[in-house]
Amino acid sequence: MTLLLEAEGIEAYYGKSHILHGVSLSVAEGEVVTLLGRNGAGKTTTLRAIMRLTPPREGRVRIFGQDVTGWPTHRIARGSGNGGVGYVPEGRHMFRHLTVEENLRVPPPTPGQWSLATIFSLFPRLAERRTSKAGRLSGGEQEMLAIARALLLNPRLLLLDEPSQGLAPVIVEEVMQAVRRMRSEGTAILLVEQNAILALAFADRAYVLSDGAIIHEGPAAELAADSEKVKSLAGARASRAA
Ligand SMILES: Nc1ncnc2c1ncn2[C@@H]1O[C@H](COP(=O)(O)OP(=O)(O)O)[C@@H](O)[C@H]1O
Ligand SMILES: [Mg+2]
Repeated sequence: MTLLLEAEGIEAYYGKSHILHGVSLSVAEGEVVTLLGRNGAGKTTTLRAIMRLTPPREGRVRIFGQDVTGWPTHRIARGSGNGGVGYVPEGRHMFRHLTVEENLRVPPPTPGQWSLATIFSLFPRLAERRTSKAGRLSGGEQEMLAIARALLLNPRLLLLDEPSQGLAPVIVEEVMQAVRRMRSEGTAILLVEQNAILALAFADRAYVLSDGAIIHEGPAAELAADSEKVKSLAGARASRAA
């Protein structure tokens, strides 16, 4: 089993605030791994640390077997010539005044299965709206556009930060179906979610982050069967909404 991503002992700070305390995780080829945790647990910071958007103070990151610790973000994204790392941040940043198709023409074409044509077959909604301004899309369509843009770089590994956030259940299902198809096409995925039930339904493995430390790791099915634990994660959602 080839490990595509290995993070080891990551310590991250915002100024003097110590946020991540020795976070270690891995993603193997073809795997969907979910990183769960309450709001503020450090999930986004973990992805940012991996991409070196928030440079870790301690720890190592290996991608596709290569030590990338200290590499600048753009080099990590490009990878080591063998497919890169796609990162879809929270909040779906995109060019609001460009059309869907213009947004999708921003990434330079890369060899691989994902092209404008295959993206439009993965997300028929985007094909229908190809001439619409991105700023006029619904939340679900914007999420699809953000994922599509990352896929066009033909990454071997995709980091997704809360794709379900703020979306209606039927749209979440559509986004998740696309994620499933990416996996079946061979893209490994690290899925950050607050919605534990949703993420556990199709991840292979799960990590739970609490106050910047991994407090659980194991097969997703095992965690899904532990209703107390899932409830405590779901409870975090409920308390956040209150
Ligand atoms: N830019 C920032 N500056 C200072 N503190 C931050 C910043 N971003 C996040 N934090 C803090 O870091 C902690 C982890 O945040 P985050 O990684 O966004 O959590 P999650 O994604 O799990 O909700 C939280 O306590 C949050 O308030
Ligand atoms: Mg977050």
